[in-house]
Amino acid sequence: MFSFLPVLALLATAHSWYTCDEVEFCSNIRYNYNIGSYSLTNIEVDTSVTGNLINEQTAESFSFTFTALVGDTFRLTVQDADNSRYTPKDDVLDGTPTEQSLTLVSISEDLLILSVDDDLSVYLYVSPFYIEVLRDDQVIIEINKANRLIINTADEDKSLSLDISFPIANTAYGIPQHAENLSLPSTGPGGLSAYRMFNVDNWGYPAYTREALYGAIGVLYGISTDITSGIFWMNGAQTFIDITNEGDGVDALFISETGALELFLFAGPTLRDCVRQYTTLTGVTPLPQYFTLGYHQCRYSYMSQEDVETVVAEFDNHNFPMDVIWLDIDYSDGYKYFTWNYTAFPDPEGMQNNVAATGRKMVAISDPHIKVEEGYFVYEQALGGDYFVKDSNGDVYEGECWPGLSSYIDYFNPEAQEWYGELYSLENFPNTTLNLYIWNDMNEPSVFEVDELTMPGDLSHYGGIQHRDVHNMYGFKQTQATYAGLLKRDPTKRPFILTRAHFAGSQRYTAMWTGDNSPSWDHLRVSIPMLLSESLAGIAFCGADVGGFAGNVDEELLQRWYQAGVWYPFYRSHSASDTERREPYLYSDEIQERIRSALNIRYAHIPYWYTLFFEHEITGDPIVRPLSYHYPADEAVLPIDEQWLIGSDIMAATVLHEGAESIQTYFPGGSDAYWYDLENNLGYSGEGYYEIAVDMDSAPYYYRSGSLVFIIDDEVRSTEEQRGKSYTLRIFLDTSLQATGNFYFDDLESFDYRNSLYHYLQFTYDYNTNELTIQKLHEDADFDGEFIIDQVEVNTLGVLYSGSDSNRLHQINRQIIYANIVVGKMQSRKTIKL
Ligand SMILES: *[C@@H]1O[C@H](CO)[C@@H](O)[C@H](O)[C@H]1NC(C)=O
Ligand SMILES: *[C@@H]1O[C@H](CO)[C@@H](O)[C@H](O)[C@H]1NC(C)=O
Ligand SMILES: *[C@@H]1O[C@H](CO)[C@@H](O)[C@H](O)[C@H]1NC(C)=O
Repeated sequence: MFSFLPVLALLATAHSWYTCDEVEFCSNIRYNYNIGSYSLTNIEVDTSVTGNLINEQTAESFSFTFTALVGDTFRLTVQDADNSRYTPKDDVLDGTPTEQSLTLVSISEDLLILSVDDDLSVYLYVSPFYIEVLRDDQVIIEINKANRLIINTADEDKSLSLDISFPIANTAYGIPQHAENLSLPSTGPGGLSAYRMFNVDNWGYPAYTREALYGAIGVLYGISTDITSGIFWMNGAQTFIDITNEGDGVDALFISETGALELFLFAGPTLRDCVRQYTTLTGVTPLPQYFTLGYHQCRYSYMSQEDVETVVAEFDNHNFPMDVIWLDIDYSDGYKYFTWNYTAFPDPEGMQNNVAATGRKMVAISDPHIKVEEGYFVYEQALGGDYFVKDSNGDVYEGECWPGLSSYIDYFNPEAQEWYGELYSLENFPNTTLNLYIWNDMNEPSVFEVDELTMPGDLSHYGGIQHRDVHNMYGFKQTQATYAGLLKRDPTKRPFILTRAHFAGSQRYTAMWTGDNSPSWDHLRVSIPMLLSESLAGIAFCGADVGGFAGNVDEELLQRWYQAGVWYPFYRSHSASDTERREPYLYSDEIQERIRSALNIRYAHIPYWYTLFFEHEITGDPIVRPLSYHYPADEAVLPIDEQWLIGSDIMAATVLHEGAESIQTYFPGGSDAYWYDLENNLGYSGEGYYEIAVDMDSAPYYYRSGSLVFIIDDEVRSTEEQRGKSYTLRIFLDTSLQATGNFYFDDLESFDYRNSLYHYLQFTYDYNTNELTIQKLHEDADFDGEFIIDQVEVNTLGVLYSGSDSNRLHQINRQIIYANIVVGKMQSRKTIKL
């Protein structure tokens, strides 16, 4: 959030963010085509290739390492001779990547040919230095082929750049966070401004720009219907990226302010493979607690205990489900985190317990800026422990933020990390209960009244690290400390944290939301590609503020946003302090009914979301996916970002345009695939676009033929009430009259699933025999928790029996079978006649 004091609001709206052309290091490189070349010497080939990379003009020498990693991944590192350029590897990589041997196929003066296996090889050109990665004898990635490698070594300019091309790709995805299309538009001199990665507090940011936002993940995929490959530019500093995508390959130019050159190459061959290769390196989002997948109600701010308790009660009075109510900054005493304003919140523990008694949780905000105030225990301890970020003179840095003059915790100091984590303990954060979870905001970090509203690059962190080297990692480091702290506070429960600033690897600690968006149709629409881009860059647990944060929302847009948000991994409504209240019970009966219906659709499908999150932890597959994730050979789906897949079995195509009476929806999969719309009892064949008529009640989503989805039909107040409820199996027959789906189940909150205490089962239904087969997917899983399926709903289309006809639209026939299938401790397989 940003301040609404008039002065600061003015500052914010008047603010403009630097483009590459306005930043010296970047414009120097962007327009410098006239560069010398680098060549490789002293080459040694062992398990990896090492050598010296020599700048032929300056004769400067850099150390060069090229390694193959398991899973068709490569790593290129270029460092100064004295190893002094910063690398974020220890924070970002989820353990040391496992190397894989490279075979030297041939070596000559100009060229080394290396291979991983029959399909995958690497050509390393010596002088001028460049690299080609080949799959099936096609070049899929080129590094420095355009000779744009620069490593500046002057004290005042340590910038670096590199060109990266995907010669057979025609579409680029990635490099979040930007409010842009999923398929990244071309930029470049004379065209659109470069994509900028520099974490900033971009309040009320515009949709459809390449402006810097709150997060920075240097993952880029070059997509084609044939082969997809990708790269990860691992650098913590400000970075600009030009993308050129004019039909003949995708070319990128990365320009970073400082740092070592650390690049990973993903050889695919599909987008799914690339995402898995990336998450193998940087980790996955651990399975969250079940409640976190419910609906979250937030506002800047609920101003008092009474306010909080009233909102919760009104949700119940009006039968709106909700799992979490949020506290923005005003719960604290003068924005001093880890304190309470007892005037407004006279009994914080009582409040948390009252909320808990309704089956709900709370989340409180805690930011990295600490009020400069003698006697404030957090400030005193941080000062005493030397835990603050320093200015260039070595004094504790002070900047303005919510509390006024503030200092900023230096999470790069391991002692500060540990101390900060422990602030979340019940002893240190008074009047809290284990029912309270944490939101880390303003962690770009945001500093008011300074250039670009963030820390200057010359500040210094623990160990002499310059802020400019690690700027994009600051929020990541905060959430790392918070995660450790929550785990220590209660080792038996999976922590929940929401962050705004994020970096590669943040997924291991925290959920993320897209910050201070606005109540506009553009923002509703752009939220989809934003979440898809983040998801492909590992940030699986992500959402955008329903309704749009920064301003009043009109009723139509709010309803459409609730309908779309059903299909965000993280589903929260939030609004700024100067906006009219927008809790759903404040609207007309008709509008309430539509919002209630959206929330109920979400709650019905939480078992499905939960299964996807478990599978994400195993595979790295994102929760929400672009259509191209599952239909990679279909050229038409590449740019689609106004509809999206949740797992592989549900496709959301809600209304994202004002006043829409119909929408064009693309159904993928070909003539053998069908998409079931239960609200209208219609099935569509997967043969491309179809015009769908809509009204305000329409919130279209579709189930894939051949899928089997677990839902909970009963309406509830929160996920707590879903415990012990029976499931309905929704079956959607395919052309072979079968359906398959997975289901995951555990205690919904603890880490016991890491000790095999869960069910992970595949269900297969065969209409021909009317049999349901349950197959254990993990032999080790050994949970005796029971669940019941009391209803099986078999959805079919006449066309499945009659053979295909030319009609694309078919009526659904539904057969309900009442059952009492009790699943407890499982043998490996059982078959049930329905
Ligand atoms: C973004 O996508 C939309 C819809 O596909 C398209 O109309 C628009 O031109 C794209 N924007 C850019 C800058 O390419
Ligand atoms: C505490 O809350 C009261 C009541 O809302 C408010 O008047 C006061 O300004 C708050 N105090 C601080 C220090 O935020
Ligand atoms: C808050 O916590 C402190 C420290 O545990 C305790 O002394 C105090 O009574 C609590 N206040 C309220 C209002 O719960």
